[in-house]
Amino acid sequence: MAELVNWVRKDPIEENVFWPSDDLKERSWVSDESIYEQAKADPEAFWAKHAEELHWFKKWDKAYEFSPHNYKWFGGGKINLSYNSLDRHIKEGRGDRIALIWEPEPINEPALKLTYSELHKRVCKFANALKELGVRKGDSIGIYLPMIPEAVIAMQACARIGAPHSVVFSAFSPESLRDRMIDAKAKVVITADGYYRRGKAIRLKQNADNGTAGTPVEKLIVVKRLQEDTPMTPGRDLWYHDVVADQPETCPAEEMDSEDLSFLLYTSGTTGKPKGIMHTTGGYAVQAHLTAKWNFDLHEGDVYWCTADVGWITGHTYINYGPLMNGVTTLVYEGSPDTPDYGRFWSIIEKHKVTQLYTAPTAIRMFVKQGDDWPNKHDLSSLRLLGTVGEPINVDAWLWYFNVIGGGRCPIIDTWWQTETGANMVNSLPGIGPFVPTVAGRSFPGILGHILDSGGSPVPAGEGGYLAIYSPFPPALTRGIYGDMERFAKQYFAEYGPERYFTSDGARMDEAGNIRITGRVDDVMNVAGHRLATAEVESALAQNDKVSEVAVVSRPHDLKGEVPVAFVLLRAGVEPSEDIRKELMATVNSVIGPTGRPDEIVFAHDVPKTRSGKIMRRVLKALVRNEPVGDLTTLQNPESVEHLKDQVGYGES
Ligand code: PRX
Repeated sequence: MAELVNWVRKDPIEENVFWPSDDLKERSWVSDESIYEQAKADPEAFWAKHAEELHWFKKWDKAYEFSPHNYKWFGGGKINLSYNSLDRHIKEGRGDRIALIWEPEPINEPALKLTYSELHKRVCKFANALKELGVRKGDSIGIYLPMIPEAVIAMQACARIGAPHSVVFSAFSPESLRDRMIDAKAKVVITADGYYRRGKAIRLKQNADNGTAGTPVEKLIVVKRLQEDTPMTPGRDLWYHDVVADQPETCPAEEMDSEDLSFLLYTSGTTGKPKGIMHTTGGYAVQAHLTAKWNFDLHEGDVYWCTADVGWITGHTYINYGPLMNGVTTLVYEGSPDTPDYGRFWSIIEKHKVTQLYTAPTAIRMFVKQGDDWPNKHDLSSLRLLGTVGEPINVDAWLWYFNVIGGGRCPIIDTWWQTETGANMVNSLPGIGPFVPTVAGRSFPGILGHILDSGGSPVPAGEGGYLAIYSPFPPALTRGIYGDMERFAKQYFAEYGPERYFTSDGARMDEAGNIRITGRVDDVMNVAGHRLATAEVESALAQNDKVSEVAVVSRPHDLKGEVPVAFVLLRAGVEPSEDIRKELMATVNSVIGPTGRPDEIVFAHDVPKTRSGKIMRRVLKALVRNEPVGDLTTLQNPESVEHLKDQVGYGES
């Protein structure tokens, strides 16, 4: 287990503790604290009760079954995510509500609004098109789409016919797409000719071509978004508008077993190879529905906006399934927050009267830096609730979000969770509170979060340790890593045994059960809210043949939270230069995509190593953070540290 890092934070938490107003208590779904005790006494009964809020083709036989590395929720039940997102509302008279608002980046293009009935038709047509192409229940489908309505439509269509989707973030490189599509065994990929970002047309089809060449992908379905010609490969590529044109507007939803795979989502582990996190249908649906409803206080007429990308778990659960299962309007914005200027988010909120905004600390920090004038130019009075996710939020950013964006009247729901957990796990509830900067809150009702030491014993209140989740596990928790159940067992259950899920996050908890997350304790970074392993950046750089050895560590960053810093040893005869630096950046760009680019590349002559030749990343991390480097006596080459100190400006303030 890695060392506990940076868990001692001395923020003045008592100064800033907020509680819900009477209004908020009255309106919210739960305002009585006893919910926590009730749910804890019988988590199975708690989840089963709330599962009843969804439509089941057939009710489950047993709520929860556990055996090591193989736990099940709602076994024997039959359910469909798309049916619950769309048909259920139409059948219950909510078909005319707006399901989706799409805001394109170019300001001269009008927003698109689709009612639940219209979205249902589009989803059914595309589901029928997929079936006509031979897609069957259980076939995995790649989705490599930008933030356009078809991203939601494609996910819903896959869920409708029981074809697990594997969404790949559109800014990921062709190589990332290829690895994921091969691992997922996808035969069909849905992509677009391109999209608009920062005022420019980004040509995605070319990346999709490069990323699918030489893979088992047989069909590429291409959404037309740009006003220009795009080369299509005859026999393989099909236009989305052609394949849906003559399809019927209804398509029965497949009756899925609760435990059937609903989707795979690849995320970074500690090795260079991303892992395909498997999510099931029934348990995922129940937790996605309830957490979206309670945490974001969703009610009829709400216009809810989550600014994540559909390529991340946040986009899956809280742009698509969560809000749609709750029958509210979900807003999808295509572009960048600074286009045409830093007022864009605030103008979208004003224009569409957004009621809930769910975003990431990295975005908030960027806005803080741009000053209050941008938001102050807009009427943000429609906002009732704010959410944050993805990384620890600092006090200043929290208070700015609370005061300047929320006008001091909106609770901030700081949701801790992971790709693996599928849905929110730790956060204060809007009607209960408290809302405290840097403190996420209690484990959601029915979820058993504990802070343990490395031996597995609970630590006293207020002390640092590791966050673990006890069985009965939350219904949406991943059931495995696709094709690698051994890695699954090792990664999450080796530390504390099969009945306690190890989160890899450091945390501490107060007497009342409020949890402060202090960050990852493994080699996973959070770069501008994007999860990335240092090993991924290392293996990308190692692909350049000028590199002989490389070590990557993370360094805190004011805006992005963390950034990678790479120590590179070049091959004999290659001299460091600006050109080589650019070339290495380009290598990372092509292997991972822009998210993986190091903030700094240090050309080292030598890096600290143990006597057995292992690179001491701990020392490098201390160097870039200006922290004590600790005991160097076990190093093979302690002199390397002195040299590096000069290079990284160690000791300078
Ligand atoms: O370290 C935690 C951090 O993000 C990690 C999970 O990343 P990912 O799977 O990409 O999912 C992000 C969106 C759910 C966690 O292990 N993290 C997530 N939310 C928070 C957080 N750290 C602090 N506070 C949060 N609210």
